[in-house]
Amino acid sequence: MASIDDLDTPAILIDAARAEANIAKAQAHADRHGLKLRPHIKTHKLPYWAKKQVAAGAVGITCQKIGEAEVMADAGLEDIFLPYNILGRAKLERLKALHGRVALSVTADSHETLSGLAATFTDTGHPLPVLVECDTGMGRCGVQSPAEAVALAKVIRAAEAEAWLRNARETLAAAGLECRRISSGGTPDMWRSGEDSVVTEYRPGTYIYLDRYQVAKGVGTLDDCALTVLATVVSHPTPSRAILDSGSKALSSDTLGLPDFGELLGVPSARVTGLSEEHGNVTLSDGGALRIGERVRVVPDHCCVVTNLFDQVHLIDGDKVLETLPVAARGKMA
Ligand SMILES: Cc1ncc(COP(=O)(O)O)c(C=O)c1O
Repeated sequence: MASIDDLDTPAILIDAARAEANIAKAQAHADRHGLKLRPHIKTHKLPYWAKKQVAAGAVGITCQKIGEAEVMADAGLEDIFLPYNILGRAKLERLKALHGRVALSVTADSHETLSGLAATFTDTGHPLPVLVECDTGMGRCGVQSPAEAVALAKVIRAAEAEAWLRNARETLAAAGLECRRISSGGTPDMWRSGEDSVVTEYRPGTYIYLDRYQVAKGVGTLDDCALTVLATVVSHPTPSRAILDSGSKALSSDTLGLPDFGELLGVPSARVTGLSEEHGNVTLSDGGALRIGERVRVVPDHCCVVTNLFDQVHLIDGDKVLETLPVAARGKMA
């Protein structure tokens, strides 16, 4: 069996046992609270993990791009949710082909999206489930409901997504429409959920690997983080500054608002304070030191974007490399 020491750097390492434990922990939480899990594959982009998530009890998976969903369908995943406004003939045709072979569902937040879907999915015997996307405060897509603006603004300010969705469900019920499925996203939110949630399924993505952002949010500890970037110290120009061979092309410059770009496992005195494309600038405090040639493991701020930067990931158990997997759904732009 190969060793981590045999790998060239930079390389992504995935602690397989940690990822499996994170899957099991979230599934147990969902089971305990009567929730369904529909994990978002954006974090790992691997059929390998998607299948494990479903085998653990997930009702299906969430993808953000049709190309990702196609990769997952090719790999045998059968229930896929695309929470995205799909527009344009080319994409609608691909969506229809996908709908022919997996249980597919999507979201829409406008008449334009809905009319494209309605014109494409005309077979009433095989309808496409469409969920209404709600902007519960993120300021991305989602209905803003001008007609209910005043009432909803009060609800949004008073509470958060839960109250917004409960209000929406009641409004639908008053109009004679039953809402059987309310799908919400996000690892931190899932852990805040309980039995009395109006949400019926969650789409956590990052929970499988975790990263510095999730640790900052209190979702886990650095020891729960399954994804690290293996890097080599290529220079130590001053006693308080070392350079890694992993810059923004490996760690990404997406900090999700955190200070610094990553944390070196086992070296608490080191912080990745700057990145250029091929260089990671490490600042050392408290007399901490690294050696030129030393290999370190960096927990990135946002593991999903890091996944998208690498062609392959190495599943590890301690120092052993169990398997190397191509990141099958990476780089899909449409
Ligand atoms: C639509 C949607 N659902 C779910 C998620 C998963 O969120 P997290 O990675 O915090 O678990 C995301 C994250 O980007 C998302 O965009």
